[in-house]
Amino acid sequence: MIIDGRRTFVWSGEMHPFRLPSPDLWRDVLQKMKAIGFNTVSFYFDWGYHSPAPGVYDFTGVRDMDKLLDIADQTGLYVIARPGPYINAETDGGGFPAWLATQAGRARSDAPDYLAATDQWQSAIDAIIARHQLTNGTGSVILYQIENELAATGTSQRNYLQHLYDKARADGIQVPIFHNDKGRNGFWVPPSSTVPGTLPGPVDLYAFDGYPGGTCHTDGSVGSPSVAPDWGIQGAGGAKGGASASNMTPGFTAEFGGGWFDYWGSVGTYPCTAVRQGSGYERVFYGTNIANRLTVQNFYMVSGGTSWGWLPAPVVYTSYDYGAAIDEGRQLRPKAQTLKTLGYFVQTVDPLTEVDKGADVPTSSAAVRIEHSVNAETGTNFYFAVHNPSNATTDDSFTFPIDTADGSYTASLRLNGQDAKTLVADYDLEGNHLVYSTSEIETHLRGVALLHGRGGEAGETVLRYPSRPTVRVLQGEAGAAYDSATGDLRLTYLHQGLIRVRITAPDRPALTVLIADEDTATQFWRVDDVLVRGPQLVRTARSHGGRLDLTGDTTASAPLEVWGPPTRVVTWNGKPVAVRPSAGGGLVAVRNLDGPRKITLPDLTAWRYAAESPEAAPGFDDAAWRTADLTATNSTTKPPAGQVVLTADDYGFHHGDVWYRGHFDGAAPTAVTVDWGGGGAGLMQAWLDGSYLGQRTIPSGVASPPTRNNDTFTIPPSLPTDGPHVLAVMVRDNSHNEDGGVNDAHKEGRGLIGATFDGVVPAGVTWRIQGAAGVDPVRGPLNNGGLYGERNGWSLPAFNDRSWARRAVPDDSAIPGTSWYRTTFDLRIPPDTDASLGLTIGDPSVPRSGRHYRVLIFVNGWNMGQYIADVGPQHTFVLPTGVLNPRGRNTIALAVTSDGGAANTLESVHLTTLGVASR
Ligand code: GAL
Repeated sequence: MIIDGRRTFVWSGEMHPFRLPSPDLWRDVLQKMKAIGFNTVSFYFDWGYHSPAPGVYDFTGVRDMDKLLDIADQTGLYVIARPGPYINAETDGGGFPAWLATQAGRARSDAPDYLAATDQWQSAIDAIIARHQLTNGTGSVILYQIENELAATGTSQRNYLQHLYDKARADGIQVPIFHNDKGRNGFWVPPSSTVPGTLPGPVDLYAFDGYPGGTCHTDGSVGSPSVAPDWGIQGAGGAKGGASASNMTPGFTAEFGGGWFDYWGSVGTYPCTAVRQGSGYERVFYGTNIANRLTVQNFYMVSGGTSWGWLPAPVVYTSYDYGAAIDEGRQLRPKAQTLKTLGYFVQTVDPLTEVDKGADVPTSSAAVRIEHSVNAETGTNFYFAVHNPSNATTDDSFTFPIDTADGSYTASLRLNGQDAKTLVADYDLEGNHLVYSTSEIETHLRGVALLHGRGGEAGETVLRYPSRPTVRVLQGEAGAAYDSATGDLRLTYLHQGLIRVRITAPDRPALTVLIADEDTATQFWRVDDVLVRGPQLVRTARSHGGRLDLTGDTTASAPLEVWGPPTRVVTWNGKPVAVRPSAGGGLVAVRNLDGPRKITLPDLTAWRYAAESPEAAPGFDDAAWRTADLTATNSTTKPPAGQVVLTADDYGFHHGDVWYRGHFDGAAPTAVTVDWGGGGAGLMQAWLDGSYLGQRTIPSGVASPPTRNNDTFTIPPSLPTDGPHVLAVMVRDNSHNEDGGVNDAHKEGRGLIGATFDGVVPAGVTWRIQGAAGVDPVRGPLNNGGLYGERNGWSLPAFNDRSWARRAVPDDSAIPGTSWYRTTFDLRIPPDTDASLGLTIGDPSVPRSGRHYRVLIFVNGWNMGQYIADVGPQHTFVLPTGVLNPRGRNTIALAVTSDGGAANTLESVHLTTLGVASR
């Protein structure tokens, strides 16, 4: 894409649309993305998070998006803005506000009521996005997505997309608008596309997504790699070939797998996904994309994060770690380091942005192949070497010809395991002519070139000089041979640690070639115009008046070496660092930088306890509750004939727990059957006249779980047979379905759908219903449901629990229904230390304990997720700084909902360190 007049490789990482109350946290993640080589961040804006009720859009979260876009700009990242209205993204209702669940018109169509709602959302969010557009000079938004994966293509959807497009333009959106085509159907291509079989739409660019990387086995073991697809110039082409669907616009993958999500009842696949879609995957698949001239690539996710509160859709639990490069606890996984080498490469080597498919290149081995591309203007050739097929993991050494304007050569290369390499030939390397190298280019700047290769593998780099240059090997071992006939200087070496070679030649700028093995390559950071070696992270580099101010993190004692503008003084996180010249033109710190201090975390010992669920008792006063009196619903699930509507959304109760109390007279039934909607791994508990009938759960353990159930309770004969009676039912609603199929799936009823007594709809039952008491003005609509404790402030830090009994945790007994456990703890994390902390419940070495209870975790009032002991797999919940106060008091409130008894009670609870850095 041309950005600010410069042809730019858009290398983008997706950040989860979680909204956390801490700008520092956003800055941390965005700086890490920039540091590992991204120039762009992409994120969805979740309509449902921002609109608690029809017509209400002034919720604080929308204003926070302003901050987020500012921080992205300050960090130096472009932004791909994805405001939906439909986003999918494993969020409640696929990003739809829950109140849309009762709208008459079909969502994702041209139904007037639906369009009126999307208009309001676009008005609110576009006002923010518009003022952050790069084109205004007031921000860094470069692209705007309408809808997401709209795979229905009728007239109604066309009208709908056109409506969204026109609205965005009317709202002042000037940047190119695109849609994300699920898979590669050739749907919604710009009018400029002349490719037969495509479907034109109101877009400026065509983009598609794909998740071809393979996942993990259900037992959590790493499966075999998949074959990397050619979705651009190396592929089959045509309407369904990926980028080939739009022949006049840049190759653009709006989402390319950077991991995968995980489901309730799995064994916990994130660590495995991080390996399956780890470094080898990135090299093979992202490398294939580069060879295919996909010059706008966004990886979903690079920073997965936490689907806190009631944000997760039924298909996913609290953690949206995704096995991504930056883990949920904000730590860099090894795959982030590989991304870094790729990101720096595509941002450094400009000719990559404008290539065509090159001539076929034979190889000496059938086990490998080369995808060849050429920049016609500069003559630069790119050789992408990969196994044949690309999922092979054999160890192959081979040769292939390099034919460029410089002559004909034979390159020797090795691919061992899931691996691929992009080699560059005929290229201007800092004013020195690179004939070719069998090391990959990581980056180059200011007379320094950083090349890398796999440890122990041989490499050669050929540069051309009209006369014999002076070559000094400053560190490590390398051979240097000059051929005066061709002018070729050939450096030969084994990749091992760091090799430094200094080349000076008449009429050429001096060049320092740094050749690193992969471990060493990870120690380098390029920040704008500065190259740094040593620390575990470099965030910013500012050079002024001979002084270089660096900020970053150490997770252990680390060296520091810099190459950049002329510098006399270097500071690290504000403190001067004594430096001396290093071999190869840089400056090196005389002493290592310090690692972080050790932190100690308090034990959580002093718990207070109170039982709740008073709603189960016959005498509970529910006079103030809403009486269920609606006879019609727009939800896709209807009550049985003759029964009033019971579904919670119809009464404005959209998230979390909902209570029902059905009052009736006469003889009690012998069996009660309830039809209920509870989302993924939902829960329902019932009492008749205060006697506990039991609990039922929606089965889990599959990637697309059921979300609705029919369950029967047999009424024990011991219960009174004459009225009045109260049937009390509590439904935990684990969120609304996504609407990926454009079939209003988000409108499936939640809470009770219908109830029958002895097989028939009972006459004369008065139902009262109660969900969340209101919307938390700070934490938003997704923070709270309708538990008694939530309605009475028990989840909040300011609640006074002094009258509550003391209680030991782990506990040894439980009542059926919900009880609360509260404690406080003080943290004293030093200001120069970034500690990423979590809360762990039970034994993380097993995915589930089998105990029949679940916990809502409130930290300082924020609902940080749900632990389900008999479903799993998540035991550790990330507590982000901002929610957590690292230097002061914190309050934990756990709402434990149990089947009752000695076994189904709270297991151990403790704080966990997920990473510590000095910064
Ligand atoms: C894509 C979709 C995303 C997300 C992803 C899986 O198809 O566009 O929103 O759901 O799948 O994580």
